[in-house]
Amino acid sequence: MSRSRAGDDGLERVIAFVEDAVPFEPGYYNEAYLGRRIAARMQRRDAADHDEYLGVLRDDDDEREALLDALTVNVTGFFRDPDMWADLRPVLRELSTERRRVNAWSAPCSDGREPYSLAMLAADDDEVTERRVDILATDISEPAIAAARAGVYETTRTTDIGAELGPLSEYEPYVEEDGTRFRVRDRIKQRVTFETHDLIRDGPKSDVDLLFCRNLLIYIDGAYKEPLFETLTASLGEGGYLVVGKTETVPPGCRGAFEPVAKRSRIYRYVGAD
Ligand SMILES: C[S@@+](CC[C@H](N)C(=O)[O-])C[C@H]1O[C@@H](n2cnc3c(N)ncnc32)[C@H](O)[C@@H]1O
Repeated sequence: MSRSRAGDDGLERVIAFVEDAVPFEPGYYNEAYLGRRIAARMQRRDAADHDEYLGVLRDDDDEREALLDALTVNVTGFFRDPDMWADLRPVLRELSTERRRVNAWSAPCSDGREPYSLAMLAADDDEVTERRVDILATDISEPAIAAARAGVYETTRTTDIGAELGPLSEYEPYVEEDGTRFRVRDRIKQRVTFETHDLIRDGPKSDVDLLFCRNLLIYIDGAYKEPLFETLTASLGEGGYLVVGKTETVPPGCRGAFEPVAKRSRIYRYVGAD
């Protein structure tokens, strides 16, 4: 995918190299984001400018690997943005009361903590019929999907898994804790199906009642936002709900189709095309 943007020629050359030599599609992402990630790697490698860094990339397989890692933002967490999860409870209660099945889709799901949070919320809330909730969880990254299927998370210096699970009344029924390691129990795993899926290239799903598309739009180049939203819109069933990330918005061209339910939490109801 070629990009013709005004800007730094050196950065354009690095991006062109990434396009050819690294299994990553830079064309999807906005240049400010790509520039920041590449600058961070340049600093790590003491490269004075983009052309010097290009030389490092050409000679060093490990650096290509490290750059791929830096470009793929997998940051996630259980109950990320707890206020959103609090606002979601009544929505989930209503869906599980009114519908025989609640089809949820977490896209992108990263290492699985977002769809597992939903499965745990359904199990934890007495007013939600847990067995009615089916969750599909997808991501473009195969390693992310493999980690999600494994469902094992480690508390580290920077990630406190027990604290992330704080919004639940108790977490022992849903995860098995072994020192710093937390293993998601089968009761929760069985609610979630994982698969790889590219939200820009692959087609929509159908009859989704609750769709999470959080913390991907911020990285996506403007030109891809509306096509991505068309995929989301085509996937939603009538009266379905959409949740985007805390700092994300519905693009202007699609706003008529969505009614805010909880504005601060970015939960919207799909009311159909204009
Ligand atoms: C920051 S994570 C968001 C995870 C989760 N939704 C959350 O908010 O915590 C972004 C994810 O988007 C995935 N991704 C990037 N481009 C994608 C695409 N075109 N289609 C599907 N997933 C994509 C990445 O692999 C990464 O796991």
